[in-house]
Amino acid sequence: MSQTLAILNCAQLVTLAGPTRPRTGEELRELSLIHDGALLIRDAKIVRVGTRQEVEPQLPSDCDVVDAGGRIVLPGFVDAHTHPVFGGQRADEFELRAAGATYQQIAAAGGGIKSTVRKTRAASEDELVATGKRYADWFLRGGTTTVEAKSGYGLTTEDELKLLRAIRRLHHETPLRYVPTFLGAHTIPNEYKINRAAYVELLITEMLPRVTREKLAEFCDVFCEAGAFSVEETRQILSAAKALGLKLRVHADQLSLSGGTALAAELGAVTADHLEQAGEAEIASLRSANVQPVLLPCSVLLIGATRYPDARAMIEAGLAVVLATDFNPGSSPTPSMLLAMTLACTQMKMTPAEALTAATINAAFSLGLGGEIGSLEPGKRADIVIHDCADWRELAYFAGVAHPWQVYTNGKLAWTRETKGPLQSRESSAASQVNHLR
Ligand code: NIG
Ligand code: FE
Repeated sequence: MSQTLAILNCAQLVTLAGPTRPRTGEELRELSLIHDGALLIRDAKIVRVGTRQEVEPQLPSDCDVVDAGGRIVLPGFVDAHTHPVFGGQRADEFELRAAGATYQQIAAAGGGIKSTVRKTRAASEDELVATGKRYADWFLRGGTTTVEAKSGYGLTTEDELKLLRAIRRLHHETPLRYVPTFLGAHTIPNEYKINRAAYVELLITEMLPRVTREKLAEFCDVFCEAGAFSVEETRQILSAAKALGLKLRVHADQLSLSGGTALAAELGAVTADHLEQAGEAEIASLRSANVQPVLLPCSVLLIGATRYPDARAMIEAGLAVVLATDFNPGSSPTPSMLLAMTLACTQMKMTPAEALTAATINAAFSLGLGGEIGSLEPGKRADIVIHDCADWRELAYFAGVAHPWQVYTNGKLAWTRETKGPLQSRESSAASQVNHLR
């Protein structure tokens, strides 16, 4: 029997309806907003989107109804770059950075990614799923309904497979959708320090074939950076991954201009991520190969750096920019897409509308899911968030506030805040007082 659900009384329904391709230029600012909107959901899919007047008279008699109470309603955020499964945490390094150490100094001294690798190797798959569920809850309560999820803290065949299996279980055991990426090339593990070539060989001849045989990943990513993998090593690994049918993403030009962006373009990667150091030539190469830039401003903020990627130049060059959190225990311990949007607006001068498009539909396209999620249109999955605001621009503007009120994935309530009743905005209560005085 099919189940129907209507969401009525949406002050603004931010649909992001539009062309079935990543949005560029002016399109980034077109949110396809419906005032006093309503939605009808059947089973896991959206079947009708319109004004309340259009949708309400045709509701089936057995339909469940949610009153959004004059709040805004959006597609769930799509976080297209996360590292959400790892052992332990690194609050000690956060403290060291506060005392003046840099992210690179801590990594060079054996901390950083390697410290998480030690704790992740010591953790069982069950333990990683248990901590992963805690982070899944953080994503959901932040209004995120899909995450791209990278391995990369195992760095042995069995430990990388353990991480990818944990990601697969999280996808099935939580309301959050996970898109898995193999990042065995996150850093060179200590045991291969004096023989880097042997680790690259292990990645290519053993890990990648196992990952693809067990269908544990859709993408392959490499951290292309001084101290991690060189351009030549990255080229070898990503070429092998591509030959096995994986799509490509690259950590590129984050801490230094090391050539990762140009390589992403050369290999036809779907995305090049970070790009803090990328300049005009790198941006032109992304344009010529249609690579989507994934910008991660929270990692700039949280390592205490000051150089953000040049989002304006990217938008002007016609790139379909994406915003993501880079959630991980080191450089970006936050799952907040709202924080990413606030930083996009204040530090990268993206408009609030550009930031929202980059956090939803463009991110969905970067995961190959643009036809399924990222906007509120008939036929799409009912991944929907009701935020406790009356104007969509408040999302990034009232910074650091947990705006989500109810979160739906596949048409089912995945998370809800305790408060019931309509949105209490000061303006409307002031307005009602005025009416009362008359
Ligand atoms: O995207 N750049 C490489 N990887 C992560 C950092 C991971 C970590 O510090 O544990 C990043 O910033
Ligand atoms: Fe990352």
